[in-house]
Amino acid sequence: MSDRFADYGRLTKPEIAVPPPGPKAKEVIEREEKVASPAHGRGYPLCVERACGVWVEDPDGNRFLDCTSGIGVVNVGHCHPEVVGALVEQAGKFFHYCGADFYYIQQTLLSERLVEAAPVPDAVPFFTNSGAESTEAAMKLARYHTRRPRFLALRGSFHGRTFGAMSLTSSKAVQRNRFAPLVPEVTHVPNPYCYRCPLRLEYPSCGLACVDAVEEYLNTIAPADEVAAFFAEPIQGEGGYIVPPPEYFPKLKALLDKHGILLVMDEVQAGNGRTGKLFAIEHWGVEPDIVYTAKGLGSGFPIGVMLSRRELNDWEPGAHSNTYGANPMGCMVALKTLELLQGGLVRNAAERGEQLMAGLRELQARHDFIGDVRGKGLMTAVEIVKDPDTKERDPERRNALVKECFRRGLLTYYCGDNSVRFIPPLIITREQIDTVLEIFAEALKAV
Ligand SMILES: Cc1ncc(COP(=O)(O)O)c(C=O)c1O
Repeated sequence: MSDRFADYGRLTKPEIAVPPPGPKAKEVIEREEKVASPAHGRGYPLCVERACGVWVEDPDGNRFLDCTSGIGVVNVGHCHPEVVGALVEQAGKFFHYCGADFYYIQQTLLSERLVEAAPVPDAVPFFTNSGAESTEAAMKLARYHTRRPRFLALRGSFHGRTFGAMSLTSSKAVQRNRFAPLVPEVTHVPNPYCYRCPLRLEYPSCGLACVDAVEEYLNTIAPADEVAAFFAEPIQGEGGYIVPPPEYFPKLKALLDKHGILLVMDEVQAGNGRTGKLFAIEHWGVEPDIVYTAKGLGSGFPIGVMLSRRELNDWEPGAHSNTYGANPMGCMVALKTLELLQGGLVRNAAERGEQLMAGLRELQARHDFIGDVRGKGLMTAVEIVKDPDTKERDPERRNALVKECFRRGLLTYYCGDNSVRFIPPLIITREQIDTVLEIFAEALKAV
């Protein structure tokens, strides 16, 4: 391990030398704003100069404790020396050689490791470059294999921005507004959002009525014989870190199996150890038909993968492909990432996640505007409300909270309409989680 990574690993407190954004960050931001796409919606003025472990530094000498991980990507920590080493070593051999058309051991090694780890029995990997591209691959395979045109997805879901993925997505109107017509035959069904049940019921007396509602859709607007697949995130990410109850996926899977509908799990954000299991669906003890991920798999290198049951793979050569899937540098980075995750970081995510959750629950007891605390492992969020009884959402206070954290050297991020998410690298230590909780407590007092 390089000295720098180890040294940074021992740090416990952020350092704010100049109130961010300082003059150097401001200069970058001003220049960037002149050339940037107006489609970008930057959350707060963080300018990254470099990063190491759980720490991010700006050009003005400020050091932030990162609870965003570059939006759920650097699960092994920024610039993990073993990941950097794997990347550099491969870069010296060859950068690229189109793994869909030719052979190289890097792709085979990663495939073997993923097949071994997958929650899908006898899985076949298909490599992509992003989360959205993985969603597209899963939509295409599901239609190809089942010869059925329709899809079901959950309200509040996020599966990416390309046309197919956007058509499954329903977390915010802005993500769909003015892009219609979308891919047809997608039906969104009520999500298992127990804090705000879309069916106005209470868990557990509801008896999982949201799964029964799926059956109603299959009997009415989305005829079961026409539905290829049901897409779901194990924990809805962009929608607000919504954790389904333990019976949800087993009951849903039984229903889908009855109708020959595939269960597709989008583990782009929840996968790669984030929740304290390598794949989040393992918490529900269900074997999906297709699972896919991206983000944390490449620790920042763009690589994704779809893992599907072998018998679904009846597509002919050339039916689906890409140029950069299984890029050899991405493969070696992902291989090292998986080794680190399975070598202890998944376990740390579970342990530190419990500590974080317990601390956030204590803070909830002191601030009634924290309506809900939820998550698994280090995929954790708090929902901010005006009143715990009415549960009226309070996005203004939520936004202020994220910014108060930033000013104090803690990077958190928004999710849903009114939630703050905490997704630190999985290497985070007990002392560093204590700091997260201390700073969040100060920010709560400030708003
Ligand atoms: C659950 C989920 N699926 C898909 C995507 C899209 O991934 P990408 O931005 O790599 O296309 C995201 C991105 O946030 C995601 O959280």
